[in-house]
Amino acid sequence: MLYALGDLHLSFSNPEKSQERFGKVWKDHEWKAKKNIERLVKPEDTLVLTGDHSWGNNLDQCRKDLDFIADFPGRKILLRGNHDHFWDAGKTRKLNEWADGRLLFLQNNFYPYKDYALVGTKGFCFEGPFYVNTINGMITGYDRAAYEHSLVLIERERKRLCVSIEAARAAGFSKFIIFLHYPPTSILENDSVFTRIAEEIGAEQVIYSHSHGKERFHDSIQGSYHGVKYSLVSGDYLNFRPKKVLG
Ligand SMILES: [Fe+2]
Ligand SMILES: [Fe+2]
Repeated sequence: MLYALGDLHLSFSNPEKSQERFGKVWKDHEWKAKKNIERLVKPEDTLVLTGDHSWGNNLDQCRKDLDFIADFPGRKILLRGNHDHFWDAGKTRKLNEWADGRLLFLQNNFYPYKDYALVGTKGFCFEGPFYVNTINGMITGYDRAAYEHSLVLIERERKRLCVSIEAARAAGFSKFIIFLHYPPTSILENDSVFTRIAEEIGAEQVIYSHSHGKERFHDSIQGSYHGVKYSLVSGDYLNFRPKKVLG
């Protein structure tokens, strides 16, 4: 089985960053996740964790969190989230050497699952700020400079996703599951460079996380859209129960 779950936001070395301040779904969430994962994921299964693994600022501060993940059953593939400061995107190979197979870091590479290639990158989307008419709740504008900057970040992530896909293609794969940390589209959009890539390569699914809290769970696409199935796997959205992606 192939499972996915995002945003564990562990803080074993940074207890002041505990997620409990964000509501009761986060109470002892790390133990809830561990219990669910151990119940569902078998040693022969694969679990993709879609970023925001740890609040630590460097590898030393993340060591306990990554060890906690490494102890989960199955093959663990990690995607880079916006809070994963321990992970320099240009040094993923070094990180993989350090983990020595206990964890597999997905960036500018891919991992096979049966006849599928698991490809991915952090992604990016524009989340505002938006300016709202406080009387009728309508959006009247947005921060143009922040929007322009988002286009630069999206282009960087598009290139990284293409490197991942090309690596899989070079190895002979033609079936793809795409993993993103950020939602595939910006708020209020139905398509993006990421949805267009998913359609172009015939990806069966796009799995993403990052959105927290019920007011953000529907920021982007869920379900089937233009032949691709989109799923949000944020930990709090799933109450920390991994989602089955493929049998
Ligand atoms: Fe997160
Ligand atoms: Fe995030």
